[in-house]
Amino acid sequence: MKGGVIFLSLSLNFLFICGHSVPFKELYIDQYVDHYNLVSFGERTFKERYLVQDKWWKPGVGPIFFYTGNEGPIDTFWDNTGLVFDIAPEFNALIVFAEHRFYGKSLPFGNQSFSHPYIGLLSIEQALGDYAVLLTTLRQELNATSCPVIAFGGSYGGMLSAYIRFKYPNLVAGSIAASAPINLLSADSKRDFFWEDVTKDFNQVTPKCVDRIRRGFIEMDTLSMKPGGLKQLSTTFGLCKPMTSKNDFHHFLGWIRNAFTYLAMMDYPYPTSFMGNLPGYPVKVACGMILNNTNALQGLYQASAIFYNGTARSCFDIWSDFIECADPTGCGLGLDSMAWDFQACTEIHLPAGSNNLTDMFPVLPFTEEIRGQYCLNKWGVAPRDLWSQAQFWAKNIKSASNVVFSNGDLDPWHRGGVTTPPNPSVGVITIKGGAHHLDLRGKNKDDPTSVTAARSQEKAYIRKWISQYRASQ
Ligand SMILES: *[C@@H]1O[C@H](CO)[C@@H](O)[C@H](O)[C@H]1NC(C)=O
Ligand SMILES: *[C@@H]1O[C@H](CO)[C@@H](O)[C@H](O)[C@H]1NC(C)=O
Ligand SMILES: *[C@@H]1O[C@H](CO)[C@@H](O)[C@H](O)[C@H]1NC(C)=O
Ligand SMILES: *[C@@H]1O[C@H](CO)[C@@H](O)[C@H](O)[C@H]1NC(C)=O
Ligand SMILES: *[C@@H]1O[C@H](CO)[C@@H](O)[C@H](O)[C@H]1NC(C)=O
Repeated sequence: MKGGVIFLSLSLNFLFICGHSVPFKELYIDQYVDHYNLVSFGERTFKERYLVQDKWWKPGVGPIFFYTGNEGPIDTFWDNTGLVFDIAPEFNALIVFAEHRFYGKSLPFGNQSFSHPYIGLLSIEQALGDYAVLLTTLRQELNATSCPVIAFGGSYGGMLSAYIRFKYPNLVAGSIAASAPINLLSADSKRDFFWEDVTKDFNQVTPKCVDRIRRGFIEMDTLSMKPGGLKQLSTTFGLCKPMTSKNDFHHFLGWIRNAFTYLAMMDYPYPTSFMGNLPGYPVKVACGMILNNTNALQGLYQASAIFYNGTARSCFDIWSDFIECADPTGCGLGLDSMAWDFQACTEIHLPAGSNNLTDMFPVLPFTEEIRGQYCLNKWGVAPRDLWSQAQFWAKNIKSASNVVFSNGDLDPWHRGGVTTPPNPSVGVITIKGGAHHLDLRGKNKDDPTSVTAARSQEKAYIRKWISQYRASQ
């Protein structure tokens, strides 16, 4: 392990960050920018951030709970993955959250990272390589080479926690892959379920809510074509800058659809501030407002304002609130959105657009052709779906072992996930009334019994994997 890895010893770098539910030590490890080609960038390295909490760890004995960071700053996931902290004490586990390269503070080339040729080093393989090096190094430095590692992740992070077990069973004894839509990486996967399932969430409150939302979009469409209509819509929705073009209107529709996406994904039973500040059961709250308004447009406005912090802002800037990209479900904001856009243009194939047929949204298409053209223009790349399928197994996971795939039935991503166990060593859990990886959140008095049961099952799997691992030593 000469060169490349300069490890900051845990005992020397205790940078204590307060204000989080559970404090962490923020550490950095030097990683090769390119694990797979030592010629192009030589032994050039970057600093990858990771967060550690060792207060429950039984050194050299307890397992390592390892969160495979996804598309954002790792502290955000730290703050929204309470399950790991809730169960660490009884397992005497060491907790490590690793940040994904090109996100948060782990930019391999600073703010040059998003240009050619540097952006080319953003891939799932490179991120998994970083995690494998970090785990190998940590276990050595901490005299923990015989400690089992359990991976955790949600959403894209859940895909990574499954993949790290697929690719590195030598390092990872088992994985909890929550709301991980791994089927999307199958080239022939259906991609039209997402908006349909967002619609179902609103329909579940009452079909009247969906009727009103459709009504609002029709009124909007009609108004947009009248003289002065765009200006009037801009006033109704409190936009900072009035819309003046078809392009503005198209973006505006995307901005509204994006609010509904997050209301559905984050339809948790209690208030959260994970992606936006949301009340408990935000879909129900939104439908309450929508049905309470005699004016359908006003209803859509109020529902959108829930996600966009309506009460705290004097007006909405639709261009800074929402970025259109290769992921119709949203790429987030800032530099993270550029990284995710690139991933959506290369290895990760996301859902298609909305169609006003199987869903309640206006027709905002996102076809293979649109994706291909967009990615070429934006990044100079063409997606390689068959490569992703070969690399990450897609639906063919018969040879997988020791992974639990959990999905909530309220989560619009759930139909991209694994719903049938391919063999007895892979667990599949459905959480009734659960939104996007609710099971990874900390326990809460408002939890449905289904998620409490799911967490118990997950704990039982982890116990089994750990004893299997110890028996094999
Ligand atoms: C680039 O990085 C430097 C230093 O890291 C920072 O001061 C500067 O604001 C960044 N520029 C942009 C455009 O983000
Ligand atoms: C690991 O073990 C070595 C040899 O027993 C010891 O010198 C070192 O301090 C240990 N490191 C940690 C982090 O416990
Ligand atoms: C959605 O489709 C219906 C039925 O074809 C149509 O009446 C309506 O105008 C469409 N809505 C929008 C917003 O385009
Ligand atoms: C509906 O409107 C009434 C009267 O304005 C108001 O008191 C009530 O809080 C509203 N309900 C919801 C769910 O917004
Ligand atoms: C809402 O406010 C919170 C806290 O100020 C902020 O983190 C979040 O990004 C805001 N969301 C939007 C959509 O503006």
